[in-house]
Amino acid sequence: MSTITPDISNFIHMSDWDDSTIHGVLEKAAQLKAENFRKPVAFGKVLGLIFFNPSLRTRISFETAAIHLGAGTSIIQPGHGTWTFETRTGVVMDGNRTEHLKEAVQVISRYVDIIGVRAFAGMKDVDEDMEDRLIRDIVRYATVPVINMESAREHPCQALADGLTIQEQFQNRPKGKKFVLSWTPHPKPLPMAVPNSVLEIAVRLGMDVTLTCPPEMVPDKRVMDLVGRHADRLGTEVQISHNQVTAFTDADVIYAKSWAGPLIYDDPAAETELRTTRYHNWTVDDGRMAVTNNASFMHCLPVRRNVVVTDAVLDSPQAIHIDQAENRLHAQKAVLMKLWNLL
Ligand code: CP
Repeated sequence: MSTITPDISNFIHMSDWDDSTIHGVLEKAAQLKAENFRKPVAFGKVLGLIFFNPSLRTRISFETAAIHLGAGTSIIQPGHGTWTFETRTGVVMDGNRTEHLKEAVQVISRYVDIIGVRAFAGMKDVDEDMEDRLIRDIVRYATVPVINMESAREHPCQALADGLTIQEQFQNRPKGKKFVLSWTPHPKPLPMAVPNSVLEIAVRLGMDVTLTCPPEMVPDKRVMDLVGRHADRLGTEVQISHNQVTAFTDADVIYAKSWAGPLIYDDPAAETELRTTRYHNWTVDDGRMAVTNNASFMHCLPVRRNVVVTDAVLDSPQAIHIDQAENRLHAQKAVLMKLWNLL
């Protein structure tokens, strides 16, 4: 469970890093981007990247960041070229899973200098997902720093890249700008990590944040409470609106994202009906963008065209999703340098 106590030895949850650390890393990322920084300051170091789930941006941006810093990478895809990992504790391992995570992570730690982990929400046990038990176990077993490359609960590297992109849009003065996170339909029940982290970074940049989603799609109370505590601490606003057009009015940023509602844990069929049918008209289109303050359109990618957002919006000059994706590289380069004490 994340707290607001700073823990800068890993990068697991946004709240593990205090405001000055977050802002310092964002400043460094902007500087690295401006310099097109490529120096072998981390020569000889190795980044071990464990992917339990697929990726395009995360994998390539981390590999590229490592190369730019003179480091190497080792990609581990459990069950694909390495043994399958048992992640549960205390089980009799007489099934298909060959190696326990406990040994695997300790061994990997002997070879590499940072471990990155991608392990999406299982969406079976809400407490397991919200407490981020798997990545927390990996932190416990690891003897090197661990970076969250999207866990059950958060995607902090995405949030940092989004923060950098927002800073760029508003010349480092996003405070008071209206940021809207909009739920959108999707044929698949996607994890909630991105919305959880994006709400937090927007609040911590001092933005006036509105979450717009159907009533059944509000993220877990633990996340909303954490975001609310940051907002109280920083004197910013977080509102929830179930009317997408009202929420979009005068917005400076529209961030679209699909996610599965909490009902996925108790009644997946009902959640599917809501996500794909009842709320199918929540796609972001020109009409909705027209009521904004010429808002920038953001999405973490991958995006389903004409389901999440129309071609017209995604191909418009307001769309900055490719900048967001590029900024993964710069933000993560800064995170690696922070964890390797190279800043
Ligand atoms: N946004 C993001 O994490 O992209 P990938 O899933 O392709 O890594």
